[in-house]
Amino acid sequence: MPILSGRARIAGVTGWPVAHSRSPRLHGFWLERHGIDGAYVPLPIRPESFDAAIRGLAASGFAGLNVTIPHKVAAFAICDAVDESAERAGAVNTLVFQDGRIAGSNTDGWGFVANLRAHGVDPGAGPALVLGAGGAARAIAASLQDCGAPVTVANRSAERTDELTRSLPGLTVLPWEQRSAALADHTLVVNTTSLGMTGEPTLDLDLDGAPAGLAVADIVYVPLETPLLAAARERGLAAVEGLGMLLFQAVPGFRAWFGVEPVVDDDLRRFVEADLRTA
Ligand SMILES: NC(=O)c1ccc[n+]([C@@H]2O[C@H](COP(=O)([O-])OP(=O)(O)OC[C@H]3O[C@@H](n4cnc5c(N)ncnc54)[C@H](OP(=O)(O)O)[C@@H]3O)[C@@H](O)[C@H]2O)c1
Repeated sequence: MPILSGRARIAGVTGWPVAHSRSPRLHGFWLERHGIDGAYVPLPIRPESFDAAIRGLAASGFAGLNVTIPHKVAAFAICDAVDESAERAGAVNTLVFQDGRIAGSNTDGWGFVANLRAHGVDPGAGPALVLGAGGAARAIAASLQDCGAPVTVANRSAERTDELTRSLPGLTVLPWEQRSAALADHTLVVNTTSLGMTGEPTLDLDLDGAPAGLAVADIVYVPLETPLLAAARERGLAAVEGLGMLLFQAVPGFRAWFGVEPVVDDDLRRFVEADLRTA
């Protein structure tokens, strides 16, 4: 880390726990690349201390924070102002502090869509099937709708699906068991469940009947290549990995805190991948 001046800008990531987060590594790469007088630090904050800690950081001259599990809904509630991305997602992953005020946004959906585009996949090209109905699904479904895609959601439990459709009008609901058969009617399928993550069961999705133009996205990034993505590649389908979403969702926060538009490129990807490979 460089020697900081008294004018250094400080940002960070908070979660509980936060030790698994790759955000310090990724923002640290950009800080070094741009020679910025600033730092990005991990901040483990217990849920019961969240409000006091955030108000304290905002009052201490911090530029802002990324927010991860389990604080994204609490972060929404503490904001003085939230943008439309946060309203639609019902959660905040990026806080910007200015003159003691707290502004919140949600960059997960934006990051997902930016990553699709980086892979040459048009998010508004046709109907999208979102598997899962958790926090990430909501942000992604909202962003796909904003791109003009009709969105269908399939989730294991009805409770989360009901919650999602109440908060995000215009979604079509599909029974979880029909997910494979429905692929024929979609141009994009995205796994937003935790299935396929290291230590979790594999997502059971039969790609044999998938149309040749189907793009398959997985937001899980540990492992980098999930069984779903490997199956898509084997069949010659476009495969979009989750790491890119993680990299892109970081862009708006970095720009707001440090005043530089950072670039997601192969050097950054390799730098973060190297850390994931040794995990
Ligand atoms: N690439 C990125 O930048 C990025 C960003 C955010 C999240 N993620 C990843 O996305 C995943 C979901 O995150 P989240 O915050 O949305 O989590 P979440 O709110 O807890 O939602 C989890 C979802 O997974 C489903 N699920 C879990 N176990 C399942 C199983 N055995 N069978 C079928 N469905 C199952 C849940 O279904 P039920 O409702 O039925 O429980 C729910 O829809 C995590 O792996 C996370 O690491 C990646």
